[in-house]
Amino acid sequence: MGWDLKKTVVLVGMMGAGKTAVGKALAAKIGVPFIDSDAEIETAANMTIAEIFARDGEAFFRAKESQVIERLLTNERCILSTGGGAFLASNNRDLISQRGVSVWLDAGLNLLWQRVRHKNTRPLLRTPDPFATLSELYEKRTPIYAQADLRIEVNPEYSIDETCDRVIAALETRPDVV
Ligand code: S3P
Repeated sequence: MGWDLKKTVVLVGMMGAGKTAVGKALAAKIGVPFIDSDAEIETAANMTIAEIFARDGEAFFRAKESQVIERLLTNERCILSTGGGAFLASNNRDLISQRGVSVWLDAGLNLLWQRVRHKNTRPLLRTPDPFATLSELYEKRTPIYAQADLRIEVNPEYSIDETCDRVIAALETRPDVV
């Protein structure tokens, strides 16, 4: 028997923070569905995120992302992992705070870099100096992620399972959610 969530748990934070990995493990642990907004966008478009950026541009992607998040937040309660830019748009943030509880997976810049540096799946990092780009995004976005309802520190010493347990402990303090 899974948790009877009163609100969808929305994971936010930088690329590489582990939103998808932690989200999947969390959903399995508490017995609720897991949905990834990037995966939903890719399935609907039958293209990868990188292909969508290349063909239609970032603004198009952001519009799709908002539509998908709105749709997912009206469906059954779940663990929803969002793309790193989703929480930055105030319309998405408002919707997430009305219909869900936001959980910021807060990882340090070095850890993020270690996790994303060898992957070629993130179009925003296809720049001459991807570390500088990541650092800029990190600086700019951190104060916005800090508006999330809950903050969970992500540390290289914690396993996915430990991070999950931290999220669970934080959610258990929220009677509006569990
Ligand atoms: C983005 C993060 C990506 C994806 C897209 C844009 C961002 O998701 O949505 O490449 O703006 O940070 P992940 O955070 O899952 O990598």
